[in-house]
Amino acid sequence: MNAATAIAHANVALVKYWGKGNDAANIPATPSLSITLQGLATRTTVAGAAKPSLRIDGRQVEDAKVAALVAALRRAFDLPPLAIDSHSNFPAGAGLASSASAFAALATAVDAAFELGLSAAERSEWARRGSASAARSVFGGFATLAASGWVGAPLLAADEWPLEVAVALTSRAPKAVPSTAGMATSRATSPFYAGWRQTAEGDFAAACRAVRERDFAALAAVAEHSCLKMHAVMFASRPPLLYWNPATVAATNTVRRLAAAGVPVFFTIDAGPQVKAVCAPGHGARVAAALRDTAGVQEVLTTGLGPGAHAVPTDD
Ligand code: DP6
Repeated sequence: MNAATAIAHANVALVKYWGKGNDAANIPATPSLSITLQGLATRTTVAGAAKPSLRIDGRQVEDAKVAALVAALRRAFDLPPLAIDSHSNFPAGAGLASSASAFAALATAVDAAFELGLSAAERSEWARRGSASAARSVFGGFATLAASGWVGAPLLAADEWPLEVAVALTSRAPKAVPSTAGMATSRATSPFYAGWRQTAEGDFAAACRAVRERDFAALAAVAEHSCLKMHAVMFASRPPLLYWNPATVAATNTVRRLAAAGVPVFFTIDAGPQVKAVCAPGHGARVAAALRDTAGVQEVLTTGLGPGAHAVPTDD
């Protein structure tokens, strides 16, 4: 009864969200722009049940963020307890945005299971309450999360500018400090946090313009700047947030060497040690090969841009 399944894809921010303006509603302090990745997906089945349960990748677990979101959904829509079963095809908690695809899939599956009739923007708002980056995974291609309501919005569809992405995995260990805790530390202690907030709108506007104009060089410049500026805020936090390892630096140098040789590619790094190389259409294979040859890189995944969160048949 009342069972439904949804698939959502991870996203990687090109202009980063780091820091919250309102913790209770999980509203970001900075606007962000991301690409949704075809190859990294979470599939979640939701069903009404006598008692709540959560299985992630086959294991029964407890998760405070999922429990809080489910409680809020149950209050808003008078829902029964939920049995949730979620599988991702990539390692969780290692800086590959597992919470983004997970909460986008959860909001979409709940909407489908109980026929709530939510719009994409409404599903995005619910997903944001679970994890703000998840608001963007409701949409495919290029998506934004900005002050106009702080819900995700589509900017450009995947096939309108089919960028390619090579993800260099440099560690499979769970991240040392989860994003939510790291953001709170940065806001409270980093001397660069104020500058980060002041310059975020300008970066966001420049990136949106570059995407609309398909200007790869302009997007590369602002995306690498946003990434390194976020990590500068992290490095200067107390205690410091240092998500990089030697292979992270090596992979970054590989991307910089390729770019200097004229290959249209740039890097971005989230709250984890993996390096995502974003390439103009047709350049992903060459970049992936160079990353595979980089010291300390364990595996390289290649993918294109993917669709937004959507319901699928449960026994599909
Ligand atoms: C570095 O969305 O995971 O990936 O809202 O607290 O769950 P919460 O944080 P989360 O943070 C993502 C941070 C980032 C940058 C980004 O995706 O914009």
